[in-house]
Amino acid sequence: MRRQWWHGLTAYQIYPRSFRDSNGDGYGDLQGITEKLPYLKELGIDLVWLSPIYKSPGIDNGYDIADYQAIDPLFGTMEDFDALMEKARELNLKIIMDLVVNHCSSEHEWFKKACADPGCEEASYFYFREGRNGHEPNNLRANFGGSIWDKVPGQDNLYYCHFFAKEQPDLNWFNPKLREKIYAMMNWWLDKGIAGFRVDAIMCIGKDPTFPDFEPDPLGDGRCGCGAMNERCNDVADRFLREMHERVLKPRNAFTVGEVFCLNKNNIERFIGEDGNFSAIFDFAARETLTAHCAYFAYEKLPVSKYREVTFRSQELTNDVGFLCPVIENHDEPRGVSTYLPPLWHNARGAKALGTVNLLLRGVPFIYEGQEIGMTNSRFDTIYEFKDLQSHDEYQKCLAHGLSEYEALRILNDEARDQCRTPMLWDDTLNAGFSTGIPWMRVHQDYPHLNVKAQMADPDSVWHHYKALIALRKNPEFKDTITYGRFKALPDPNGHTLAFLREGERNTLMVIANFGEGSVTFDTYDTARPLLTSGEVHLNAHSVTVAGGSSAVLLL
Ligand code: GLC
Repeated sequence: MRRQWWHGLTAYQIYPRSFRDSNGDGYGDLQGITEKLPYLKELGIDLVWLSPIYKSPGIDNGYDIADYQAIDPLFGTMEDFDALMEKARELNLKIIMDLVVNHCSSEHEWFKKACADPGCEEASYFYFREGRNGHEPNNLRANFGGSIWDKVPGQDNLYYCHFFAKEQPDLNWFNPKLREKIYAMMNWWLDKGIAGFRVDAIMCIGKDPTFPDFEPDPLGDGRCGCGAMNERCNDVADRFLREMHERVLKPRNAFTVGEVFCLNKNNIERFIGEDGNFSAIFDFAARETLTAHCAYFAYEKLPVSKYREVTFRSQELTNDVGFLCPVIENHDEPRGVSTYLPPLWHNARGAKALGTVNLLLRGVPFIYEGQEIGMTNSRFDTIYEFKDLQSHDEYQKCLAHGLSEYEALRILNDEARDQCRTPMLWDDTLNAGFSTGIPWMRVHQDYPHLNVKAQMADPDSVWHHYKALIALRKNPEFKDTITYGRFKALPDPNGHTLAFLREGERNTLMVIANFGEGSVTFDTYDTARPLLTSGEVHLNAHSVTVAGGSSAVLLL
């Protein structure tokens, strides 16, 4: 495998509006991020992904972009961005931006011009279609509910397509002029010194421009989730991604991580093979077993054994092909500790053991802000505390399904994207040190004891465990094994354990994380040496015993 500069890195996702507010307006901003870059450096982070900071009306918190080359005033100015880049260079931190080009915002000037004159060039940057027999052009359902079609303002029978909110019109990738504009914009950011992109919802660009009807799915509204079209049109997306790769990314050796679902042995080479469309893609295997159901209320609790099965399958699929980005949570998910672990381990012990797995699987791990202190889901008390448009749509789905408001709230507390969007917990002062103003989003109730400052002062904290894990990833003796070593699954003795080997050229590591109640024992060589443990771990002559909620990394 050809070695690349990003292979051994540890990455971190910042959700700007919730990270650090420097001016007291209740929203996180660029100056706040710059102020905290040394903190990330201290943790050991190499690469930082910024969720969107572009000019946006904020309908989907910045994933609706009105100007791709301007900073939203909420986050600051272009000078603030340049200062952030300057600081990052000084600290040797790479910065990647969110590339949101399946759609833009209905406030983008392209869309405004298109609506004003559906015959103009900009109209061809979108999917404008005539209605059929007084109805929308087809029966696909948007990701945030309702039809993917809305009427072009002022038109009787002309619709535009949006796979997400109606304020997020989809861009027509079949149009070469549009693609050129996108590539020019990407180059403009790369020229500013960013190291690459996290590529948002990109498989949605795979469309069938005839927009046929699809078989209705079980939700019962006669519609079918729009993902069904993308699944059929992977080849279309591949064609455009290939071009983007050849034209922009490859010549600059930029890093990209794709938000790509449905990884399988047929598409993996094209995604992340030696000359694949992306440098890496997120591993969403565990997430996808939940989201395969068409509404939050249908999600089932994922047993640890299932988490293990799907995570290990991804590892085995990619061993010989390329790189995944292991994640346990991001801004579109609830907290990983709360989602994937049994209630007994929704605490610091569980967070450490899960972190051990996340950071030592093969790949470029992404830590989401707050994960490094073991943040769990918080307790939202009313529907009004949820900000995300998807939360409100899912709440309505629950009610329409016959659930009570109380039950709907309980489901949102488990599944909502807002769970990961609550402010970062810096210390035990007002608003957890996030803001001196009124935070845009409720602050996690545990902040008086669960915060960065307290954990940095406590050598036994989740934070210090993450720091030690990252240091281990960088340790010259093990770096090569952790980066390139083959993943090999070990058996699961109690139905709650993730155990695996990382087999490198110079050495082999054994990683065990036990999420059961009782302990598990694995045979080892008598030369085995513990490199890092959490919880209770006992090394015997030829075996290691790992108690519930504990983890061990051994050099065999
Ligand atoms: C991606 C983003 C998500 C956003 C969606 C539409 O899935 O991660 O936050 O809502 O795309 O842009």
